[in-house]
Amino acid sequence: MGPDMLVVFIGPPGAGKGTQSANLVSYLEIVHLSTGELLRASIDAGTRLGGIARAYINRGQLVPDAIMVDLIATRLSNPDCQPGCLLDGFPRTLPQARALDQMLAEQDRQLDVVLALHVPRDELERRLISRSGEEGRADDSPETIIHRLEIYERQTAPLIEYYRRRSKLSDIDGIGTMEEVFDRIKQAVDAAR
Ligand code: AP5
Ligand code: MG
Repeated sequence: MGPDMLVVFIGPPGAGKGTQSANLVSYLEIVHLSTGELLRASIDAGTRLGGIARAYINRGQLVPDAIMVDLIATRLSNPDCQPGCLLDGFPRTLPQARALDQMLAEQDRQLDVVLALHVPRDELERRLISRSGEEGRADDSPETIIHRLEIYERQTAPLIEYYRRRSKLSDIDGIGTMEEVFDRIKQAVDAAR
């Protein structure tokens, strides 16, 4: 494997980013940076960041860009990210994407590939409703799920075109078994490295 593989995962809530990230980081031997998981861990640990993030997350709203950019800047400069990392859930807005570009330029690094995971809305709702019974995530109530899907369409989906214009984008069909989806992802990252 080449050094410093940087992968971004974009996809709506319930698309399978977390599920597929677990497979992909062990395949590429890189670090998994899930901003959702980092924020939930901060909430559980009762940190100041957790206190701020909780109100946004529980309402299905995005945590402000400045907070997220700081969080990722700190994590990306951590030595464990030097062999590479998978960003799952960041960037999620255009300002976050621009901030990431600037951060990477300063470190003389580049994204290798942006994976956009595509799953139709009715299937997303089905998956999240069914997960709500299993994991008990505070933001998996029916109203919050609808709100998160709307925020995704408005704020995050435009990033797909942002990265397509920069020739970084790889579209992944997220329908099928987890193994089928992972095979598509492997093909996309193998082509990018
Ligand atoms: P985050 O934790 O990133 O949540 P999300 O984007 O809403 O996505 P999910 O984790 O719900 O879905 P997923 O795509 O990971 O799917 P999963 O693999 O679990 O963010 C949470 C919150 O944190 C945000 O709302 C925001 O408030 C805040 N936040 C985070 N990052 C931020 C940022 N950068 N800026 C601002 N705020 C930020 O799969 C879903 C279900 O489907 C599972 O049950 C799974 O088993 C199932 N499944 C997976 N694959 C398949 C398959 N192929 N077939 C059938 N079922 C499947
Ligand atoms: Mg997730």
